Amino acid sequence: MNIILLGPPGAGKGTQASRLEHDRGMVQLSTGDMLRAAVKAETPVGLKAKAVMEAGELVSDDIVSAIIGERLDQPDTEKGAIFDGYPRTAAQAESLDGLLAERGRKLDYVIELKVDEDALVDRIVGRFTCANCGEGYHDKYKLPKVKGTCDVCGGHEFKRRPDDNAETVRTRMAEYRAKTAPILPIYEARGLVRRVDGMAQIDTVTKEIEAVLDGK
Ligand code: AP5
Ligand code: ZN
Repeated sequence: MNIILLGPPGAGKGTQASRLEHDRGMVQLSTGDMLRAAVKAETPVGLKAKAVMEAGELVSDDIVSAIIGERLDQPDTEKGAIFDGYPRTAAQAESLDGLLAERGRKLDYVIELKVDEDALVDRIVGRFTCANCGEGYHDKYKLPKVKGTCDVCGGHEFKRRPDDNAETVRTRMAEYRAKTAPILPIYEARGLVRRVDGMAQIDTVTKEIEAVLDGK
């Protein structure tokens, strides 16, 4: 099964994708994570993407579709992919159709996480992750049980994303409204869209997505 998680920055795409990966053995394909890895490794793609990402704008369609295409060639994606943060434009949606068709695969669902945008700024500006294992935390909603110590790996170093400040978040939201939200009708016309309340508790959101995937 191949699904897209669609929603604005902070909607919970990454949170839910990593849970589905863990629970269902599907593979999370986050273009944001792939681009951040490229920036960190200072690859040619990373060098191009760095400033664009820090400004909250979208990296070019060709770059992201190329990295997704390469990733889909790895055999672990055959058991099912969760597209997280991709596609983000009509051109990317078209590329994804081609990339899947070339490999004899298809899209099963597009899950839209419905959220209240005002609440998202708060979610994003407060979040941080363990620098060692990547576990996600939040200043208000999910602090480590022991202050300064990761619940999962016991690490003491945490990091925040450079694009998680209020100003850049507003640009990211505007990009979502202008370029990403308009791809929903394309998928709606194909009967693929299912809506889930992204403002509910994290566990509830997971259950709702699982129900969709189980055809309930
Ligand atoms: P990307 O990494 O994709 O970021 P994003 O879309 O802005 O999404 P986020 O990761 O911010 O949010 P999320 O929906 O995953 O929420 P999360 O689960 O973390 O993209 C970053 C940049 O890369 C882009 O701006 C662009 O420059 C570039 N890029 C990436 N893909 C691209 C593409 N395809 N084309 C072009 N450019 C691309 O949750 C957020 C917080 O809320 C967390 O703290 C979490 O714990 C908390 N939370 C989650 N769910 C809940 C809940 N139900 N209740 C309470 N808190 C919750
Ligand atoms: Zn950790």
